[in-house]
Amino acid sequence: MCEIDQQSACESGICASAIRTTLLRRSRSQLFVFIMCSVGCIYMFWFLMVPFHILGSYVSPRSRTAWKASTTARHAEIQYNTKYLRTHNDRIILENTSLLAEAPRIHITETGNKTETKRLPIALIIGVKKGGTRAVLEYLRLHPDIVAPGPEPHFFDTHYTKGFEWYRNLMPETEEGQLTIEKTPSYFVTKGIPQKVYEMSKKTKLIVVLRDPVMRAISDYAQIAARNPEVKPFSEIVFENYDSYTVDTRRAIVKVGVYALHLTRWLEYFTLNQIHIVNGENLIRDPASELRDLQTFIGVKPHITGEHFTFNITKGFPCYRRNTSQQSWHCLSDDKGRPHPNVSSLVRSKLANFYRPFNHRLYLMTGKHFDWT
Ligand code: A3P
Repeated sequence: MCEIDQQSACESGICASAIRTTLLRRSRSQLFVFIMCSVGCIYMFWFLMVPFHILGSYVSPRSRTAWKASTTARHAEIQYNTKYLRTHNDRIILENTSLLAEAPRIHITETGNKTETKRLPIALIIGVKKGGTRAVLEYLRLHPDIVAPGPEPHFFDTHYTKGFEWYRNLMPETEEGQLTIEKTPSYFVTKGIPQKVYEMSKKTKLIVVLRDPVMRAISDYAQIAARNPEVKPFSEIVFENYDSYTVDTRRAIVKVGVYALHLTRWLEYFTLNQIHIVNGENLIRDPASELRDLQTFIGVKPHITGEHFTFNITKGFPCYRRNTSQQSWHCLSDDKGRPHPNVSSLVRSKLANFYRPFNHRLYLMTGKHFDWT
């Protein structure tokens, strides 16, 4: 009709719709043929490649193992990257990747019959600076089921943009059944970190070593003074106005000790039973009892006991041994357990007055009481 009476039909709009219908029919059938061809090609490729791989791997068993290992590693890497890309800045989907901390492998090496992998940490020692964090890390490393990097990774506060793969590569290899932990004390006080840790895994276990905030501030000052002998006296740093003893709350050396404030931020993302508080004073008096509770919290069998510790009178602190049948004791380095500068009792008590209401709030939040002044 369109060709015969084209002019009149087109005028009435019938021709245009007839042409459209014909073209649509043609393109549909072409699309169908194209899809069928593509599916056919994929099947052909698959049938050719599989026997080729099998043949190749039977020729050399070593190359078959290598092929399998590299495929597994590549597969995991791709899976991991996809998850990471898909979940970056997306909290809800990231929740589902909590298993990232437990399962994925990015590096596979074969040591005898054992397969070792690097894993993201399942527990973090998040603080506090000068609370006794190094001692806790070194004591936990006495456990055969716990591995941890020696240096502080500072991933969540400094290197976060490098991504989880970078972070995981910092971790030591774990054997089957071993757990990875790390310690970076600045995490506890840095804003935004609770959310980032939650995004890595909402199941992460958090360890905080707390110590009398006045003593913590003095210890912090001792470290600053050891590095910079020109530093101002302690009282001039912690008080904004020395005459009225107004505490300078802008100073990091002061702020770190307001534990309740920092803990509140973590409790927005984690429950209290995911956070274990180590009593920093008791850690020196009775490390074994603190370690007993810690091992239960982390979920490893009790291994570290009183037999691992001795009190070293010269150092004034506990020292430890890896093997209870040996007599070689290790103490922490000299920058742990430094002599403190003289700080008058007046300055100490003014600072203690400042911290008291925050300490009280901490006791209410945690149900844990500390013998702080
Ligand atoms: P001081 O050096 O002020 O005494 P961190 O490792 O978090 O920086 O904490 C250092 C603090 O750990 C030390 O502070 C010390 O009081 C405490 N500590 C606990 N156990 C220790 C140990 N076995 N050896 C040395 N210091 C220990």
